[in-house]
Amino acid sequence: MIKDINLISLQKSDDIKEALQRTKETGMRIMLIVDEGKVLIGVVTSGDIGRAILSGKKLSTPLSEVMNTNLIIAHEGTPATELLGVMLGKSIYEIPIVDCSGRVVDISFLSELKAIPLSSPDITNKEVDIINQVLSTPYLSIGSKIKEFEEKIANYLGVKYAVSVNSGTSALHLCIRSLDIKDGDEVITTPFSFVASANCMLFERAKPVFVDIDKDTLCLDVNKIEEKITAKTKAILPVHIFGHPCQMDKVMAIAQKYKLSVIEDACEALGTEYQGKKVGSFGDCGVFGFYPNKQITTGEGGMVVTNNEKLAKLYRSLRNQGRDEGDSWLSYTRLGYNYRMPELSASLGVAQIGRIDEILEKRQKVADFYNKRLSHIGGVKVPYTADEVKMSWFVYVIRLDEREFSQEQRDSIIQELKGRGIDCRDYFPPIHLEPFYVQMLGCRKGSFPITERVSMLTIALPFYNNLTEDEVNYIGDNLEDILRSY
Ligand SMILES: Cc1ncc(COP(=O)(O)O)c(C=O)c1O
Repeated sequence: MIKDINLISLQKSDDIKEALQRTKETGMRIMLIVDEGKVLIGVVTSGDIGRAILSGKKLSTPLSEVMNTNLIIAHEGTPATELLGVMLGKSIYEIPIVDCSGRVVDISFLSELKAIPLSSPDITNKEVDIINQVLSTPYLSIGSKIKEFEEKIANYLGVKYAVSVNSGTSALHLCIRSLDIKDGDEVITTPFSFVASANCMLFERAKPVFVDIDKDTLCLDVNKIEEKITAKTKAILPVHIFGHPCQMDKVMAIAQKYKLSVIEDACEALGTEYQGKKVGSFGDCGVFGFYPNKQITTGEGGMVVTNNEKLAKLYRSLRNQGRDEGDSWLSYTRLGYNYRMPELSASLGVAQIGRIDEILEKRQKVADFYNKRLSHIGGVKVPYTADEVKMSWFVYVIRLDEREFSQEQRDSIIQELKGRGIDCRDYFPPIHLEPFYVQMLGCRKGSFPITERVSMLTIALPFYNNLTEDEVNYIGDNLEDILRSY
């Protein structure tokens, strides 16, 4: 797309052929019609031209006969948020910007304004104040906010111990290390997740053994776990995907029967409940992530939680270069890492966990807006929520109907939504088909058919605390409009 005002400016005496030629050269769907003094007098879109030709106009027809003089324009210096409001309100994708004499000086595109992002953290004065407080102290690492954040998370989840780290991935790695899972051991998990939930085993040369997912909850299918257990199986690692919990009663019963450990990946599910109990608190250890798209954020960050004192002590040591409690700064009891959460991140976490009820309520409301707007669109499946579940929404992922859409069509629908300023993504591609998994584990296409079928047709739509009903309706209107053309 070429955004040069001169290249997309035409005179009203120019003809349709010239406009078509310019559209082809510039990739722009709109042409500006200006007078001799460059004052905007009309616009012509490719839609206008198409309609004109269908109604019998010739290529030699002057643009004065097809141009639209009912102009929506903005003046130089109009803030981006206002431009956005106009475009969303009028369902248009571009606005010419004019100076005080009406001369075109620029053109603003909805897609350029990145109208509706996929996610956006909810930062208030509470977060800013607490960060400023910490910045005014010398304690930017290993300070009191770490302890406060850990206590607040442990209380919220109803677990004895919470140990903060610098990412969800580090938290997963510590779980694998702490349970002595090593070379040749096997851990049963899902191929439908963010890649870190399987990579953490590879860090220790253990093997992720994948089990296909349930077609509704998109979590590990608990009925398929037992057939994958071997003498090498050490643990089960269920992932509470998109904030929906796994059937943890069944997972725990299988683990007990075969004496396996359970590591819950609850990175996407802070606050989710299964049978009235918060996820992360069922297994030997549970893991949370605080990347900015998560329910609460610390910028980057993670947490391991457990009721096992020995494990908690080990996590504190492993995250801190292997120092045990009582070790001096330069003595180390074991091999460890620097996985510590910075104090500034922890302070952000303190402010965010203090608002957790408000945050989860806001997210539920956004999910309700979506359910209301999208439930009746043909070919679209809204997210499923099982009984005995209290959702903590991480993302809002729709699925296209496999009888009506192909993966290629899903991909171009995503591109079209992006073109209309709606960021979205194909959450998640199957882990077992990542080229290095194919190479390392010999995984093949067709091994996990439900995961593969689901992955082909998912679209994660914009989802964050302050997404408004108008924005959700705008997304719904555009999705419906795009799907109609397939
Ligand atoms: C299910 C799951 N596991 C693990 C992680 C890794 O967390 P982090 O990005 O904080 O390392 C994520 C992050 O997106 C996730 O969604």
